[in-house]
Amino acid sequence: MKTVTLSTLQAYKRAGETFSCLTAYDATFARTAAEAGIEVLLVGDSLGMVLQGHDSTLPVTLDDICYHTRCVARAKGASLLMVDLPFMSNATTERMLNDAGELMRAGAELVKVEGEAWMAEGIRELTRRGVPVCAHLGLTPQTVHQLGGYKVQGRDAERAAQILEDARTLADAGASVILLECVPASLGRAVTEALDVPVIGIGAGPDTDGQILVMHDVLGVTHGRTPRFVKNFLAEANDIPDAFRRYHEAVKARRFPAKEHSF
Ligand code: KIV
Ligand code: NA
Repeated sequence: MKTVTLSTLQAYKRAGETFSCLTAYDATFARTAAEAGIEVLLVGDSLGMVLQGHDSTLPVTLDDICYHTRCVARAKGASLLMVDLPFMSNATTERMLNDAGELMRAGAELVKVEGEAWMAEGIRELTRRGVPVCAHLGLTPQTVHQLGGYKVQGRDAERAAQILEDARTLADAGASVILLECVPASLGRAVTEALDVPVIGIGAGPDTDGQILVMHDVLGVTHGRTPRFVKNFLAEANDIPDAFRRYHEAVKARRFPAKEHSF
């Protein structure tokens, strides 16, 4: 695989081609995912749940994420490395700039931040300083207590319109990528069609430009309730590298997600 950059993702979007993304937290799995052809690796704050055993992402610190980013960065191969800003990094523009700077020093190439249209200023300032941003909308796990649980967002027309408008505002502010989590497939399609920037989905239906899953879910070691949008690719694979390849190929062929994985 040629080195994946933002331009690669933009070219995929223009060509109507999908791309695959997967979380990674350490060097060995990062290398395995990169060798499977997965275009984007995410050091997600989901590490608070799948690595640390918390029941939300809120306890994860900037230092935790930087540590895992350094581990993944050494083995990311040709994949693009996206990294999450942790809970409250979006508290002020100054804090966003500072924390994103730390992530970039640790090896991030694209910084993901959860929030809504009010992040426009922070995103504009980051972009001006050469830090590309992915804005995470829809179900934002860092606000789980406000949302009242991990629930599909945008089922009603009003909230759906708000999410679409926020995506537009943040793309206009300079966001290079939008990520939509747990929204109806119709909204996933609408946002993808409305924007020129690549849109990555998780539980956002089959029509987004890219797809992302948490590595543990791809390998069938999800604990607790298995979300509808998850698929265990190891179940039909020979080994873990083969599971990652199967996930990648299913996304590229638009075989995943299927209807049963969508809302
Ligand atoms: O932290 C994470 O793994 C994420 C993905 C689920 C998109 O943000
Ligand atoms: Na995250």
